[in-house]
Amino acid sequence: MKQPSRYHPLLVTLHWVLAVLIIAALAIGFFGLAATPNSDPQKIAVLRVHMAGGMLILVLMGIRFIVRMRTSRPPGATTGYPLLDRIAPISQYGFYVLVLSMAGTGYATAILAGLPAIVFGGSGAPLPPTLMIYPTRVAHFYIATLLVGFIILHVLAAFYHQFIRKDGVFRRMFFG
Ligand code: HEM
Repeated sequence: MKQPSRYHPLLVTLHWVLAVLIIAALAIGFFGLAATPNSDPQKIAVLRVHMAGGMLILVLMGIRFIVRMRTSRPPGATTGYPLLDRIAPISQYGFYVLVLSMAGTGYATAILAGLPAIVFGGSGAPLPPTLMIYPTRVAHFYIATLLVGFIILHVLAAFYHQFIRKDGVFRRMFFG
């Protein structure tokens, strides 16, 4: 079967929707949640957006994985360096592992701290003074930091392909 020159439109859509949602979850986490004391009455509403968004990311990532397995893809773009070409798929699968770990540690923290009743159930109970007593919450921070590093590398690699190797990698990730 002939290999296509672009990714499937559904895969392209999911890629860009997930890019926006993941960057938004990171921004809300670092600048909205970590920077706000748990005593602030606004924090529950911010947590609601973050937790619901995080679960949506998990669902879309699962759908993306299935679509990726079931659709034919263009041949892998080469960097010109065999070692880098071998590392590229590891970094791409790394995204699945990191996002899955973010959702897992976020969800586990929420359960341990009894957040579903406070954030979604309207129980009226206050948030615990801090969530940093839970190892899952500490892991959530470290994995988020690693994810930021992965995103920076991913963007640099895309620019390298587009502007230095000029192999039209952006065209494969758009419609038309
Ligand atoms: C890809 C998905 C997610 C990303 C990128 C993300 C990102 C973040 C970041 C960057 C922080 C702040 C870390 C810090 O500076 O210490 C944070 C905090 C938090 N996130 Fe997530 N998160 C995700 C999914 C989830 C999910 C699914 C839940 C729960 C269902 C969740 C619950 C929380 C909680 C409870 C906090 C701590 C708030 C606090 O201690 O004030 N996150 N998240």
